[in-house]
Amino acid sequence: MKVKRHDDKYSGLIKAAVRAKNRSYSPYSKFRVGAALLTSSGKIYTGCNIESSSFSLTICAERTALFKAVSESQKRFKAIAIASDAKDFISPCGACRQVILDLAGNIDVVLSNGKGSTTVIKMANLLPLPFDDRELRQ
Ligand code: THU
Repeated sequence: MKVKRHDDKYSGLIKAAVRAKNRSYSPYSKFRVGAALLTSSGKIYTGCNIESSSFSLTICAERTALFKAVSESQKRFKAIAIASDAKDFISPCGACRQVILDLAGNIDVVLSNGKGSTTVIKMANLLPLPFDDRELRQ
């Protein structure tokens, strides 16, 4: 994976993702995830994973954050930070990659691990050769 060393500019965003992780509703997997989405104007929208007893209806932390922001009329974003309790970085699942690219474009994705390290990767590197609205207009 192509990663870039993290600088301090996202430390507040990472803290917000960690706080969101603490609100995770994950009684089935017990895998807590938090996300924090930074808008172009500097607002932060957070989300956690929310599971359902009908497992496939679960929503990931990233999409919770994005849907909250978009439903509040936010349209332009800079970065999304993702936090979990795992030792290694976790990066967004395939479904979230599609939705992040659709709604937020080529933003910075800030990954953090349970040991306090972070790294930044561009969204386009996480979803090369995407299907997007350009295909729909053809
Ligand atoms: N999950 C997320 O919230 N984000 C990810 O990037 C990966 C997976 C959630 C979904 C489910 O509640 C749990 O983690 C285990 O898959």
